Amino acid sequence: MESLKGMAAIITGSAQGMGKGIAMVLAQRGVDVAICDVKQDVLEATAKEIREATGRKVITGAFDITDESAVKKFVGEVESGFGKIDILVNNAGIHPLKPIEEIESKEWDLVFAVNVKASYYFCKAILPGMRSRKFGRIISISSEAGKNGGTVAALHYAASKGAVLAFVRNLAQQVGADGITVNAIAPGRIATAMSSAVSPEENQKFINNSITKSLGKPEDVAYAVCYLASREAAFVTAETMMVNGGTLRD
Ligand SMILES: NC(=O)c1ccc[n+]([C@@H]2O[C@H](COP(=O)([O-])OP(=O)(O)OC[C@H]3O[C@@H](n4cnc5c(N)ncnc54)[C@H](O)[C@@H]3O)[C@@H](O)[C@H]2O)c1
Repeated sequence: MESLKGMAAIITGSAQGMGKGIAMVLAQRGVDVAICDVKQDVLEATAKEIREATGRKVITGAFDITDESAVKKFVGEVESGFGKIDILVNNAGIHPLKPIEEIESKEWDLVFAVNVKASYYFCKAILPGMRSRKFGRIISISSEAGKNGGTVAALHYAASKGAVLAFVRNLAQQVGADGITVNAIAPGRIATAMSSAVSPEENQKFINNSITKSLGKPEDVAYAVCYLASREAAFVTAETMMVNGGTLRD
């Protein structure tokens, strides 16, 4: 996809897993990437790996994305460092697996803070620049659980991922006339640390129920991000793309 060359992106929660895969694949296609995560050591190792593999510029930010002032500071640093931000991938997420009886109110708020509210912080900080340049691609990682409630998902997690779908459909309407698209990706089970917290039996059930007879890889989601981030996807907005091996069809 030639049209990604020369773009600049922020990917949240990108020290490992899907975020790392997305950052690497974007960089391989000529995008300078800003990666951020709470896991500072892993983040620096990932930055080194991306620089060595692709030769692209990589900016890192080790902070908690639920801190609005830290988000604003990072967005400012990335805008100065890259001169612009074309792509925002709201990827960071947490999924404490437990039944409703064990969810404390504080944890409910934390799940929504990381999985939903932090995306509002990032979008608010990034939109003025995107609007002035009349171009932007915002992609939020939801989940199959946000569409169907999930099979093993926790209640707060599924609810937060459903909120992500409404978030993109609303924001898309507010920014579309400025050349900015806002879309979601709803992955099925992807082989990362998050899915390894699910029992092997449950992951096998997912595989059996899939058309592809497999779990997904972080790169499978990254390739979908590449399309939605491209100039060619200008007419695709307020959409949810499922990347799930055919497990959920609607
Ligand atoms: N793995 C799956 O099967 C799957 C399926 C559907 C959706 N998702 C979604 O995909 C996204 C990526 O998940 P993953 O599987 O790579 O998970 P992961 O746990 O491997 O990675 C998530 C990253 O986000 C970071 N993070 C968490 N809270 C943070 C915070 N407050 N501030 C900064 N960074 C923070 C973590 O440190 C971690 O590096 C998440 O939004 C997740 O909900 C995952």
